[in-house]
Amino acid sequence: MSKLKILVTGASGLVGSRFIEKYSDKFNFVTPEYPQFDLTNKEQVSQLLEKENPDWIVNFAAFTDVNASEAQSGDETGPAWQVNVEGTKNLSDSFKSKNFIQISTDMVFPGDLSQPGPYEEPETPPDSSEKLTWYGWTKNRAEKIVRDNGGTILRIIYPVRVKFEPKSDYIRGALKKYADGKMYPLFRDQQICIAFIDEIAEALDRIIETGSHGVFHCSSDTTTPYELITFVIDHLSADSSVIKSISVHEFLKTQTNPNRYPVWGGLKTKITEETLDLHFSSWQTVVELLLGQGLSLPKI
Ligand SMILES: NC(=O)c1ccc[n+]([C@@H]2O[C@H](COP(=O)([O-])OP(=O)(O)OC[C@H]3O[C@@H](n4cnc5c(N)ncnc54)[C@H](OP(=O)(O)O)[C@@H]3O)[C@@H](O)[C@H]2O)c1
Repeated sequence: MSKLKILVTGASGLVGSRFIEKYSDKFNFVTPEYPQFDLTNKEQVSQLLEKENPDWIVNFAAFTDVNASEAQSGDETGPAWQVNVEGTKNLSDSFKSKNFIQISTDMVFPGDLSQPGPYEEPETPPDSSEKLTWYGWTKNRAEKIVRDNGGTILRIIYPVRVKFEPKSDYIRGALKKYADGKMYPLFRDQQICIAFIDEIAEALDRIIETGSHGVFHCSSDTTTPYELITFVIDHLSADSSVIKSISVHEFLKTQTNPNRYPVWGGLKTKITEETLDLHFSSWQTVVELLLGQGLSLPKI
């Protein structure tokens, strides 16, 4: 049987590159790379789809810098809106099939007490930018475009992997700061989850394999940044007592956008696990798996 042809955008990124690595024997991947391929160029997008005619598209490509996005708040000509919303629209509108998977985030929800997480798959993200970051709003609008076109959403949260030189993730970023003696205080009362990138790749494989459509989540159970990072440091036999904690509620009072950090974030995964016949690891197990793969303190 011939392999399914999967067009993957953002294949050089933190998450997309692992999906390619893990399944390159199974699927025929087409991986157009930025800047030769620019999602915001409508003409380029439709020409590529016409030429390749893929069976599925997985759209990882995005403007992912949350702080830089925040500096563009309200600016629909800025790269965050252009890539995340207009780029997704170009791709989704040009592809005349429902086999479109949009990689999304829990930040499409406010993460505050008006609609606290962890969120279930059927929960509807707000139709207003009022309580979101600019990044969260652009991803929220991108989801709407894809859902309206009948495509599929896979939401993830703080994706982690053992190694990826071009970009740190939530855990490796903290370990770098710790090793450098520049560890910042960690929120002790912010509800977060992490997602093991190997399990994100497995979820994508199952969606494609089973031809499933809808909204799916890949995530661990909930923890806090302080609990997570001190657990990692302890398991690396380093001294976690030097790590200070801080209240996210106090910190948010110092921010221009009071919704800059979701306080009650996170994703539930029961429906996804039942539908795709998968099991996602607890956050402790994700850390143990990473340690088993060789996660260590960087040498400074
Ligand atoms: N990382 C997180 O914490 C996180 C959390 C939740 C959800 N997500 C979502 O997961 C997905 C993947 O995230 P990631 O962390 O793997 O992202 P990443 O490492 O920042 O990679 C983004 C990818 O998009 C490409 N890209 C950027 N602008 C483009 C354009 N105009 N046209 C075509 N490609 C473009 C980048 O190419 P270059 O490398 O050449 O710039 C890169 O390959 C994103 O949709 C993100 O919103 C991420």
